[in-house]
Amino acid sequence: MSQSKDHNRRFTLASRPKGEPDENTLKLENADIPVPASNQMLLRNQYLSLDPYMRGRMSDAPSYAAPVEIGEVMVGGTVSKVEKSNIEGFSEGDWVVAFGGWQDYALSDGTGVINMGKNPQNPSWALGVLGMPGLTAWAGLTEIGQPKEGETLVVAGASGPVGATVGQIAKILGLRVVGIAGGAEKCQHVIDTLGFDACVDYKSLSFAEDLKAAVPSGIDIYFENVGGEVFDAVLPLLNTSARVPLCGLISQYNATSLPDGPDRMNYLMGQLLRKRITMRGFIVFDDFGHLYPAFAKQMTEWVKSGKIKYREEMIDGLEHAPSAFIGLLRGEAFGKRVIKLNP
Ligand SMILES: NC(=O)c1ccc[n+]([C@@H]2O[C@H](COP(=O)([O-])OP(=O)(O)OC[C@H]3O[C@@H](n4cnc5c(N)ncnc54)[C@H](OP(=O)(O)O)[C@@H]3O)[C@@H](O)[C@H]2O)c1
Repeated sequence: MSQSKDHNRRFTLASRPKGEPDENTLKLENADIPVPASNQMLLRNQYLSLDPYMRGRMSDAPSYAAPVEIGEVMVGGTVSKVEKSNIEGFSEGDWVVAFGGWQDYALSDGTGVINMGKNPQNPSWALGVLGMPGLTAWAGLTEIGQPKEGETLVVAGASGPVGATVGQIAKILGLRVVGIAGGAEKCQHVIDTLGFDACVDYKSLSFAEDLKAAVPSGIDIYFENVGGEVFDAVLPLLNTSARVPLCGLISQYNATSLPDGPDRMNYLMGQLLRKRITMRGFIVFDDFGHLYPAFAKQMTEWVKSGKIKYREEMIDGLEHAPSAFIGLLRGEAFGKRVIKLNP
């Protein structure tokens, strides 16, 4: 279904999911196309980014950002075109990176909006390797991971936008890089296309032994994207003075309770203490937003020269966004999932 010039299709939050989101979580509505005030512009969204953090915004549990309220439009990063502008620095036809949400049209006062001009190449990449996930990978790895040539890095979610970028940057910097991904096809891609040294399938029954065999010198940096059982296998393999950029815990986003089994908190604390491990959480724009210009310059060069490869999974039609998002949390995405709003 394409966009209309008469109304604004939008997804609002209808109910807070318990566990996995379902068909009752979001509601498709038709609204009037908003009219920009004297300090605003009207954006026509072209691409909508689907990202794991959106699950957190559906919940009202305390977090680093306010939840989406019931009845509000679901938040999301977009690549959009300016339809009408009353703001200096933006004119009709400009492509921008904005926070337009799950809808066809959005108003913006320009805050936090990046102008890409009239003819950007691969505009949707600004939602992936050249945007938020790329900055997350670059800043988390270099600022917290403190990579050194010859060290061993492990990253989970290795075929996803953050993990794929982390591993490729680490290869450029001269590290041995081991990915963790779900299934043989994704692992093959991680080795053959992304150039990692090895990749271990976390769905295999022999995962913990396979991981141990893949890191004969232990792990110096573990870039944490998933948590849960993957982290259980990683923890005993961390070296003294290892660094753990704590980026995400996607295996837990739909969880409704703590996992069964013995309380392993003391084991974790003991490992951190004895091995003097640094584990630091970060929220990309809060902690590293100021690094965006340096990141964008470096990453554009790497992507242009082919040193960093990028895989995108484009899905046509806003109406498919909810099912595509549920699938993303289940591990069905293969690369960066983006919704094309005007196919
Ligand atoms: N801190 C920040 O500021 C920040 C910013 C951006 C992203 N993040 C976090 O970074 C992580 C990666 O983000 P992304 O955008 O690149 O997403 P992504 O990798 O595309 O996330 C989806 C992938 O997560 C993996 N996954 C899901 N459930 C899993 C489980 N139970 N065990 C192991 N793996 C599981 C799956 O990998 P397979 O396909 O291999 O099965 C799935 O394809 C997420 O946790 C996200 O929340 C944090």
